[in-house]
Amino acid sequence: MKKREFLKTSALLASTSIIPSSLLASFTESKTRLRTAHIGVGGMGAADLSSIASHDSVDVVAICDVDSKALATANKIYPKAKTYNDYRIMLNDMSTEFDAVIVSTPDHTHAPASIMAMEMNKPVYCQKPLTHFVSEAREMRKLAEEKNLITQMGIQVHSFYDYKLATVLIQSGIIGKVHTVRAWSPKNWGYDGPAPKGKDPIPETLDWNLWLGTSPERPYKDKFYHPGNWRKLVDYGCGTLGDMGVHIFDTPYNALALDVPLTIKNKCRKPNGYGFPVNNSVTYTFPGTPYTTENLTWVWSDGPGAPYINKDLKLPNRDKLPLQGAMFIGEKGRLLLPHFMERPRHIVNGEYKEIDIKKYDPNDALGNTKNDYERDAPKHYHQFVDACLGKDKVSAPFSYSSRLTETILLGVIAGRFPNKTLHWDNTNARFQEDEANAYLSGMYRDF
Ligand SMILES: NC(=O)c1ccc[n+]([C@@H]2O[C@H](COP(=O)([O-])OP(=O)(O)OC[C@H]3O[C@@H](n4cnc5c(N)ncnc54)[C@H](O)[C@@H]3O)[C@@H](O)[C@H]2O)c1
Repeated sequence: MKKREFLKTSALLASTSIIPSSLLASFTESKTRLRTAHIGVGGMGAADLSSIASHDSVDVVAICDVDSKALATANKIYPKAKTYNDYRIMLNDMSTEFDAVIVSTPDHTHAPASIMAMEMNKPVYCQKPLTHFVSEAREMRKLAEEKNLITQMGIQVHSFYDYKLATVLIQSGIIGKVHTVRAWSPKNWGYDGPAPKGKDPIPETLDWNLWLGTSPERPYKDKFYHPGNWRKLVDYGCGTLGDMGVHIFDTPYNALALDVPLTIKNKCRKPNGYGFPVNNSVTYTFPGTPYTTENLTWVWSDGPGAPYINKDLKLPNRDKLPLQGAMFIGEKGRLLLPHFMERPRHIVNGEYKEIDIKKYDPNDALGNTKNDYERDAPKHYHQFVDACLGKDKVSAPFSYSSRLTETILLGVIAGRFPNKTLHWDNTNARFQEDEANAYLSGMYRDF
């Protein structure tokens, strides 16, 4: 089934319960409590659930998971929530009983589930990367805009102090105009081996058909898909770029006010149609912005051994580079942003320079400066809840996060054409190289 048809079917399924957008406006003005429905409550979904529920004004009313074990665990903590294994049934059955939806499934289900909820005029908090396909990211952005919905992508460090500080520093010109960004993660969400042969018995607790959802039919194999390892595979995840890249790109992308790139080249192994390359080295060029030189070059490297030695990444005192992070290289110096919960570091002429934070944030507008993960982790979630209740604004709405996701996904697609520079036509959402356009979108399976 073409994606468009699936989305129409979902909308039709939901049509009996569509809430007019006039009512939606009054909902945000008058509501004092938010009733949430959660899709995917194991893995990160469990953390999403507890972070959302830790807001005083939230009532968790529905939870859904295709693995009955994950569902039972969550249900023990939230016994009043109704339980489901099919999000389509949950959204339809309970359409008038919840106000917002949290999507924490593997990447290939983000768009189908989120779009169905958005068609019902529900605000959506969706995990990162926003979607599996570029076409879906564009669709979600459009829908959120048309319906004026509160949306947030799950890049929680976006609301952390160090990242906000880095943005202020870069935008205040601490290193002048930036010409290059280097970002890296040695994590490995790739798989260079062959597709496994045969099939294993499907665990009794798992509904494999619902797990596959709109993605292609495939026999179940232990340890390849559920849980977590789907990230390594082209039909479900987005590799290390989609996993860590989206977090690490976020601050430089935001600080430099970037939009999508002009060109993309991925140095990696040949595609094998099953897993993402273990090592990727992606070079993007972006059009200039007020914070960059005429063009910006962005180099991402991932997988074991990343990043490769480069003079831009040499630290004073022979210090060791943080395991993951980003380096901004500007006309007047460099800014290192370790990932995560560490202060940015200013480097000029091979030496660290103290950052006078008062100069850049005189009124302490960025908030408290002590790092405390337990305290800070729920901020991004609470911001979403408060925005739904009309008391705050979201910081990573789909208008922003769909563009960040598109940038990530273009790097992923470039991995299908190793060492070839692809040219992106933002206006028409197409590559100049026609062979690459086949990967912008995919078929949706009936399930
Ligand atoms: N923001 C972060 O820091 C962060 C960290 C980890 C994961 N994530 C994101 O969270 C998402 C989930 O990742 P994970 O590591 O938890 O994966 P996982 O495979 O460990 O867990 C996914 C959960 O969703 C359930 N699920 C799968 N398909 C479903 C469906 N169609 N309907 C309902 N439930 C379904 C699974 O049974 C499982 O409980 C991914 O998008 C990932 O990128 C974000």
